[in-house]
Amino acid sequence: MSAKSGPENSANISDNVPVVRFLQGAKLLGQVRLQEGDTLVEHGELAGIKIPTNCTSGTCGTCMVTLLQGTVELPEILPPGLDDYLVERCARLSCIGIPSDDVDIDIRPPL
Ligand code: FES
Repeated sequence: MSAKSGPENSANISDNVPVVRFLQGAKLLGQVRLQEGDTLVEHGELAGIKIPTNCTSGTCGTCMVTLLQGTVELPEILPPGLDDYLVERCARLSCIGIPSDDVDIDIRPPL
């Protein structure tokens, strides 16, 4: 199986390709196909959405977003920018968070 596919590299997003969607409340800001191994910030850039960052290492919390649906794994030891309280409210750090399938992200923190 080839990892690269050619001709269907269009703006259309078909149902069988995982998609990362960025929302603000109910408003869809943009969406992009899942790029395996890329962070949420990188997906945002591809979708034309600038998520504010500062440290880009999981320390400051500037890039915090809310995971509405899907999976963005957390590191086994939470980085300084997250704590249990925030995780319970579905917070993720988009500078280090890597989506693994379809995800919906609210670009605002869950506070
Ligand atoms: S930019 Fe600092 S935690 Fe993501």
